[in-house]
Amino acid sequence: MTQDKCLVDVHTHVYLPEYLELLRRREQVPRVLPPLEEGLDERLIILPDEDKGESTKNGRPVGAAYYDVREKLAFMDKHDIDISVVSLANPWIDFLPPTQETFDLARRLNISMENMCQEPITQGRLYGMGTLPLSSVKGSVAEVEHIASLPRMRGVIMGTFGCGGKGLDDPALVPLFEAIAKHNLTIFLHPHYGVNLPASGNTDAGHSLALALGFPFETTYAVSRLILSGIFDRVPDLKILLAHSGGTLPFLAGRLDSCVAHDPAVASKLEHPPSHYLKKLYFDAVIYHATGVKATADFVDPSQIMFGTDHPFFPPLESKDARWMSVDSNLAAISNAGLDEPAVAGILGKNALRIFNLEMPCENE
Ligand code: URA
Ligand code: ZN
Repeated sequence: MTQDKCLVDVHTHVYLPEYLELLRRREQVPRVLPPLEEGLDERLIILPDEDKGESTKNGRPVGAAYYDVREKLAFMDKHDIDISVVSLANPWIDFLPPTQETFDLARRLNISMENMCQEPITQGRLYGMGTLPLSSVKGSVAEVEHIASLPRMRGVIMGTFGCGGKGLDDPALVPLFEAIAKHNLTIFLHPHYGVNLPASGNTDAGHSLALALGFPFETTYAVSRLILSGIFDRVPDLKILLAHSGGTLPFLAGRLDSCVAHDPAVASKLEHPPSHYLKKLYFDAVIYHATGVKATADFVDPSQIMFGTDHPFFPPLESKDARWMSVDSNLAAISNAGLDEPAVAGILGKNALRIFNLEMPCENE
């Protein structure tokens, strides 16, 4: 495959062995439970209150695709994905206390991610995003320095929790954002907690509403808070990739601008309207329909949008051999969004090569 026709997945996860072990040992959410019956997969219970809902209390099956690099490569082969930029799956280690043990775990996870990306069987097709011990800014800054020294790492994955749950607009995080920008790493901003509004509580909708709506609304809110904190005036080089096409922001950015413009106490803290900063961010194309890709490509230059799959989540339910619906919906959405060929080729892979400075593994073969 050549650069011009490559497929790069920038939104793809793994539960590294050290992390899985931690989740297996835990007695509360987030945790991994044994299979419901012998011979079946273990169960992943990670979402807030997931253990309390009748239809969610047994979590989701978590098989080898969630942790085995050979499964990742087989998935890539099946869908002609040349390169994957792999990140740890949610909820990362945000919930652990700011102890040396947590810092050591972050260190081991990042070494393990680097080693996975360097395994000979991967043939140079994998890059990684690091994990931070976010309950400590100092520990996270130290880990950013470490991640920056690992050759296959391109950024860090980050939830919306911030340090001790204070959110991403916590002023204490500024040194962390400065360290990330200094090393030209990208933050992959990814939801996990959903939105905790009175009318959005648990229902009999299983996992579907939490994942379909809670996740993108959480991103929408968190990124807006980050922008309103004025961080991009302070750290203009901060590079952020937003999961799920920025939640709802390509659609709602105008409303955000308007409400801020009518609120001088907020507007006076910013040099520009919120959409000015939003338009500098990167967006994945994990939005599953052409309308979403169109809205994103209308809002930012298509050169800032990148293909993703969210593997290993949303596996085919009917047969293990089937192509993944999530991949095919996202591919169809990109080709049906009315974009010209160079824009499509960019979203499928060329943008990621440029933005993350990735090398095509087999270009000369
Ligand atoms: N479900 C999750 O828990 N995480 C994802 O990234 C996608 C689906
Ligand atoms: Zn994801």
